[in-house]
Amino acid sequence: MKPYVFIAKPIPPEVEQMIGEHCRYDIWKEDTISKEELYEKMKDAEGLLTSGTAIDSDLLDHAPKLKVVSNNSVGYDNFNKEMKKRGVVGTHTPYTLDDTVADLAFSLILSSARRVAELDRFVRAGKWGTVEEESLFGMDVHHQTLGIIGMGRIGEQAAKRAKFGFDMDVLYYNRSRKPDAEKVLGVTYADLDTLLKTSDFVLLITPLTDETYHMMGEREFRLMKDTAFFVNISRGKTVDEKALIRALQEGWIKGAGLDVFEKEPVSEDNPLLQLENVTLLPHIGSATAKIRLNMFSQAAQNMIDAVYGRTPKNLTKEFQ
Ligand code: 8YV
Repeated sequence: MKPYVFIAKPIPPEVEQMIGEHCRYDIWKEDTISKEELYEKMKDAEGLLTSGTAIDSDLLDHAPKLKVVSNNSVGYDNFNKEMKKRGVVGTHTPYTLDDTVADLAFSLILSSARRVAELDRFVRAGKWGTVEEESLFGMDVHHQTLGIIGMGRIGEQAAKRAKFGFDMDVLYYNRSRKPDAEKVLGVTYADLDTLLKTSDFVLLITPLTDETYHMMGEREFRLMKDTAFFVNISRGKTVDEKALIRALQEGWIKGAGLDVFEKEPVSEDNPLLQLENVTLLPHIGSATAKIRLNMFSQAAQNMIDAVYGRTPKNLTKEFQ
């Protein structure tokens, strides 16, 4: 009998068909699935395709046959040490989204500096012609300094755009030095405080781990220049959002571009929604049709390989 897997979110029909050729499956086509419903679906599942579902002890208790959690994302902060103890491997979808996420980082950098989202609202509100043009001025991106926190594959793509597209100086901070990136991309390593103090744009791309939780807090935002912009495309929880809100309200920094939030979707009463000096996006870093199809296909293949006892291509470092 074919192995049974559960797909916890809507996926493209061609990927569903691909899974169906190898596995019996059930699929959740609504927006979000409740814990109870998920537990019920996991009773016999050998594989789970998801993104963002917390794989905690409770869920694993309800999934005695589980062999693999296949994330449809490059980030895997939803995985838990408990998986390893129970022999459940975790896979993700690296490589395919690097350029796409780096493009989005630049959308946020440009929107923050040139006030694209804010001025779009201004035009729609019929305010064009009602104020001095000077009040619409922004800041340059080209020839400025970009500080990248987290120099992985996406960081390198962002650095390439900055260096060769916008003539920027690029600093980076990472757990380990990246000699190849330094040589090929001409980026310069800096400790975190130096990066924060000297960058005109601070781009956060680090994965969420115990070490990076709230790594940007009051101390870090106060170190940034009051003319600088902060862009987060990593995970919301890498930032102490309360401190960021104060930094934006009280002018410790000039503005921000955010694709991720501590709570997603953001609540209606999140003060960020009231601020003009921030561009907000609904976690769409990898969200182009082509790349999401690639990611789903990659995630499906990883899951199929694992439930058939083959080694999936994209095992995560910590969960194999
Ligand atoms: C989305 C991401 O979480 O890949 C990641 O880590 O943050 C995003 O691409 C994901 O793809 C949503 O399904």
